[in-house]
Amino acid sequence: MRLLKLRKYATTGVRGLGNAIILGAQFGDEGKGKVVDILADNYEYVVRYQGGNNAGHTIVVDKKTYKFHLIPSGILKGKFCVLGNGLVIDPDVLLQEIELLGAAFDHDKFFISEKAHVIFFYDQLIDMVNEMGDGKIGTTGRGIGPTYNDKISRCGIRMHDLNESSLNKKLLHNINEKNILLKAKIGEKKLREIIRTNYSAFYDPISIVHNEAVLKHYVNAGARLQRYIKDVTSQLHEAIEHNQPILFEGAQGTMLDIDHGTYPFVTSSNASIGGAFTGTGIFTTIEKRIGVMKAYLTRVGNGPFSTELEDTIGNYLQQKGKEFGTTTGRVRRCGWLDIVQLRYAHMVNAFTELALMKLDILSGLEKIKICVGYRYKGKIISMPASIGVLEKCEPVFEEMEGWIEEISNIKNYHDLPVNAKKYVKRIEELIGVPITLISVGPERNQTIRV
Ligand code: GDP
Ligand code: IMO
Ligand code: MG
Repeated sequence: MRLLKLRKYATTGVRGLGNAIILGAQFGDEGKGKVVDILADNYEYVVRYQGGNNAGHTIVVDKKTYKFHLIPSGILKGKFCVLGNGLVIDPDVLLQEIELLGAAFDHDKFFISEKAHVIFFYDQLIDMVNEMGDGKIGTTGRGIGPTYNDKISRCGIRMHDLNESSLNKKLLHNINEKNILLKAKIGEKKLREIIRTNYSAFYDPISIVHNEAVLKHYVNAGARLQRYIKDVTSQLHEAIEHNQPILFEGAQGTMLDIDHGTYPFVTSSNASIGGAFTGTGIFTTIEKRIGVMKAYLTRVGNGPFSTELEDTIGNYLQQKGKEFGTTTGRVRRCGWLDIVQLRYAHMVNAFTELALMKLDILSGLEKIKICVGYRYKGKIISMPASIGVLEKCEPVFEEMEGWIEEISNIKNYHDLPVNAKKYVKRIEELIGVPITLISVGPERNQTIRV
């Protein structure tokens, strides 16, 4: 009986407000955290479904800045916050984040899927070592790729395994395997040096890694996290059954999606809409599918970037936009808006609306360009799968008049400079999706609802 009832809700979406998803429409860092924070009031649950602490979501409230890597951005609004099974979780980072939030963290409203995978120190080590060779991806170095690698290879360790009996077998087995791999890759001397420097508590002069110390560390972390580890899939089904609306919080962006992004310069999870279903174990109607995009384009890490500006304008955007990675502090590469990419992201995610972020950063530019097409071997093409082709594409630009006025205090769409409004309208027209939110500053209240 219960299953039948569940099915009814799951497919018809007969609910008040319905569900929503916040999706990065570009290369990540579009301002998803701010949008989640603004919209969270309307939802009971805020759910992360993929990625890990490679994400860095910033929220600014009354000049106080919060940076979330794992905990959903809805935490500041007192919502039920969930980390789904699609995540990879570094227990140390999560515990630190909980501690840092202090009184703002409600222990009874936070849940972690028992099926989410755990990032261990050796995953970070492998990430670091992989980035030493040629073909560097420019990862965040947080062990994301290697952890998903183990998940797919079926030797991953999940949150429900964070106890002595499970870890004893699985963790020690994995450490031995990784030791062999790492020794072969960089040699014993270098491996010792890296572990001694970065993980001194785990270093053993005889066997390189002190298994007991490692075991104790993760068993202890598991014990501290135990209260949050739950059957989150069933809990979310119950939420749907009780008409409790869910806000899904995507991390990274569509162009970093493992399947749909600029492979191999991507992250290791499905940042686009499909990840919300596999990464939680629910299938339900998501009425609002909000693509979050910056008014220009940034990318942190390596990989093709057709509209990149390595000139004074690129520098202007980087400086004025304070374009430094939230997680690693690396300088973000900057360029003009790329409509080919945004149309492609719309195709993959079926956006119902767009949130246009950082429009304030464009103030002061005489001219603004928008890439409206890719030319390859004399022909206009859509987003190619091969980065070899993408790298050879020549962007076709349309030029628009800029505006001089600063706009960060504007609260009403009609008060924006004429050319800013023209820019907004042109983007809507080119992508074919309405812009319902315009952000003109990092603060919660620097937001225009359209
Ligand atoms: P996320 O990963 O998509 O959540 O984005 P990040 O937090 O990594 O990066 C976005 C940055 O831009 C953060 O520092 C935000 O505080 C800031 N930000 C968001 N919206 C605006 C805006 O409209 N104007 C300005 N100037 N900054 C913004
Ligand atoms: P949020 O959620 C921007 C990038 C890295 C690198 C590539 C792979 O804040 O938008 P990884 O460590 O995931 O294996 O690195 O993906 N990357 C991000 N770039 N924003 C993010 O998250 C990112 N998470 C990963 O820089 O190029
Ligand atoms: Mg970010």
